[in-house]
Amino acid sequence: MKIGDEQINGFACLAPMAGISDRAFREICLKYGAGYTVTEMVSSKGLECGSKKTEMIMSLTENEYPSEIQIFGSDPESLRYAAIESEKQGCIGIDINMGCPAPKVSKNGAGSALMKNPELAFKIVKEVTNAVKKPVTVKIRSGWDENSVNAADFAKRLEEAGASAIAVHGRTRKQMYAPPVDLDIIKQVKMSVKIPVIGNGDITDIMSAKRMYEYTGCDFIMIGRGALGRPWIFKQINEYFTNNEIISDPIVEERMRIMLGHIEKLCEYKGNDVGTKEARKHAGWYTKGLRGAAGLRREIGAIGSLDDLRKIADRIIQLNS
Ligand SMILES: Cc1cc2nc3c(=O)[nH]c(=O)nc-3n(C[C@H](O)[C@H](O)[C@H](O)COP(=O)(O)O)c2cc1C
Repeated sequence: MKIGDEQINGFACLAPMAGISDRAFREICLKYGAGYTVTEMVSSKGLECGSKKTEMIMSLTENEYPSEIQIFGSDPESLRYAAIESEKQGCIGIDINMGCPAPKVSKNGAGSALMKNPELAFKIVKEVTNAVKKPVTVKIRSGWDENSVNAADFAKRLEEAGASAIAVHGRTRKQMYAPPVDLDIIKQVKMSVKIPVIGNGDITDIMSAKRMYEYTGCDFIMIGRGALGRPWIFKQINEYFTNNEIISDPIVEERMRIMLGHIEKLCEYKGNDVGTKEARKHAGWYTKGLRGAAGLRREIGAIGSLDDLRKIADRIIQLNS
C-alpha cells in the first residue's frame, strides 16, 4: 500500500491508542514488522495552548519511522495548525481522528461526532490537506449508530476533500467496542473510494487478519488491542502473507525478554516513576495466559521498579519451564 508517495511495507499497522501507542510501543511494533504506526491522538486545542504533554505525545524520533501523527478536534483552523506542527515532526502523514467515541471528545463535535456532520468533516480535510504537503488520512467508524451507518458515503466525501487513505473501524460510535465488527461496511467503503482503505477491528491473529483482507478487499489492516503484549503479531502476519508460514508465539523466555526491553524503553522515555506505573498494564498483557501469571497478578499490579519486573519475569520463566 502507498500512503501518498510513501510505500508501506508489510501487511498490518499499529492502531492509534491513547495511553498505549506511545514512543516505546511504536518502536517495538515497528521492530516486529508493523508497516507503520500511528501516535496516540493529539488534541489540536491542547497544542494551540502549548501543552507540554501534547507536544510530547506528538514528538517522533527516527526510530519510529514510518509513523503518522493523529490529531483530533472540530475546528478546521485549529486542526490546520496541528497538522502544520505535526508535519515538522517528520511523520509520513497526518491522520485525523473521526472515530473516537469518548464523550469528552464527541461532545465538542470532534472524533466520532464528525460522522454526524459530513460537511464539517469535509471542510476539515480540505483545510488540512491545503495546509500541508504530507498526505492526510482519516480514521472513521461505521457510523454514529445503527440508524446512521454512513461510512461509505462519508469516506467518499473525504476522498473528494483530499484524503489519501481511510482507516475504518467497523463499529458504530454507539457500539463503542462491543461485538460484532461489521466487515460489510468496510467492504462497502472499499467499493466506494479509490484511495487505500485500511480495515480495523478485532484482528487478533492470522485467521482474523486473513478474513479482514479477503472479505473486505481492504488494502491494509490495522491492529490495536491484538498487539497488546504481543508486538510479534505483525511478524506473524507478515510471514503468513509473504511465505505462507505460521510462526508460533515466542517461547516464554523470549516473551519476557521482549517485555523487559519494552519497559526499559518506556522508563527511558518517561522516567522510572511513570514508566514503572505504565509497566503494570503492559506486564499484565505480556504475561496473560502464562502459567503462574494469575497468581502473580497482585505483584504485577504493584510493580514499583524495573527490578520488580525483572523478578516477576524470572518467576514466570521458572513456573513455565
Ligand atoms: C485504549 C484504547 C485507546 C484508543 N485510542 C484511540 C485513539 O487515540 N485514536 C483512535 O483513532 N482510536 C483509538 N482507539 C481505537 C483503536 O485505534 C481501534 O480502532 C479499536 O481498538 C479497534 O481495533 P482493535 O479491535 O484492533 O483494537 C483506541 C482503542 C483503545 C482500546
